[in-house]
Amino acid sequence: MAFGWIDEQAAARREAGLVRTLRPRPADSPLLDLASNDYLGLARHPEVVAGAAAAARTWGGGATGSRLVTGTTELHTELERELAEFCGFEAALVFSSGYAANLAAVTALAPHGSLIVSDAGNHASLIDGCRLARGTTQVVAHADPDAVRKALGTHEGPAVAVSDTVFSVDGDAAPLAGLAEACREHGAGLVVDDAHGLGVLGAGGRGAPQAAGLAGADDVVVTVTLSKSLGSQGGAVLGPARVVEHLVNAARTFIFDTGLAPASAGAALAALRLLGREPQRAARAREVATGLHARLTAAGLEAVRPDAAVVSVRAPSPEEAVQWAADCRAAGLFVGCFRPPSVPDGISRLRLTARADLSEEQIERAVQVIGGTRP
Ligand SMILES: Cc1ncc(COP(=O)(O)O)c(C=O)c1O
Repeated sequence: MAFGWIDEQAAARREAGLVRTLRPRPADSPLLDLASNDYLGLARHPEVVAGAAAAARTWGGGATGSRLVTGTTELHTELERELAEFCGFEAALVFSSGYAANLAAVTALAPHGSLIVSDAGNHASLIDGCRLARGTTQVVAHADPDAVRKALGTHEGPAVAVSDTVFSVDGDAAPLAGLAEACREHGAGLVVDDAHGLGVLGAGGRGAPQAAGLAGADDVVVTVTLSKSLGSQGGAVLGPARVVEHLVNAARTFIFDTGLAPASAGAALAALRLLGREPQRAARAREVATGLHARLTAAGLEAVRPDAAVVSVRAPSPEEAVQWAADCRAAGLFVGCFRPPSVPDGISRLRLTARADLSEEQIERAVQVIGGTRP
């Protein structure tokens, strides 16, 4: 029977406690949200919503075409200019998602005969970029510049190292300065995904590369998403103008994809300008994360010390992680749940996100619920 194998896979998933389900979120959810990636609490900020609405009124509901045909509006160009300037890079190119931006950066910068050195903890979109690229991928130990150095030493010709700046599972930061040094010793490029760093790390949220002194470097390329701290949707690649020009000509997820919806571009631009005016939001997100971690640890829970806004709490098994998250939800708290195959090491976790707009009382309540429902 066609697709018969799907039922076998579904049965295996049920057996392993790994079934995923969709839960539509009502507009007025009563749950305290520690699951979204809205780190700065901007997704429903009046200025961000107004930016989306104004852009939709001016430009319409969709971009109407791919970026090289009709999908580049003046708004896209404005967003690219301000994103590049904010993060300290020469140029930026906006994509319909961070996923597409990662596929673009890795595939376009790793031609046939090249080497890609990829951190074992990288996000799925970077991994898929490696899978689609013509170059050969070598996966190296997590957050280990020496492993990157060693891998690069085995190769002649073009090479890039790719890494998340903040890893989405445990919220730990990559050793960016060390990675850049290892790449420079071998004349390799460094491609880093700052999805969880933009808006949280660096001066006023200018991102992890800025914090590491790598902003504007001619051998560093940064990808970001507009969907987390900027509360919108879409992605971007930031880097030297010649790299961006290369992507315009060579990146398939840029060329063969409809441009970012104007409303998303308008929302991201409004959020970026707001962050420029209110840089303390970034510091507050970090402060909430640190406070959350301290309270969880004091309550006897095993939490990883956060380097940005993601706080990860270990769970004993996938089934218990799912039950724990469900019990939190029943007690009014929405937390994320990571389990195989989304975790590279097979360890299941609750994944909490610290938001700049959480009050001390809300943080305390969250810790009480998590502690009170632990398996
Ligand atoms: C590290 C990382 N990179 C890339 C992405 C993809 O970004 P987007 O959601 O904009 O496609 C995500 C998650 O969404 C992520 O966590």
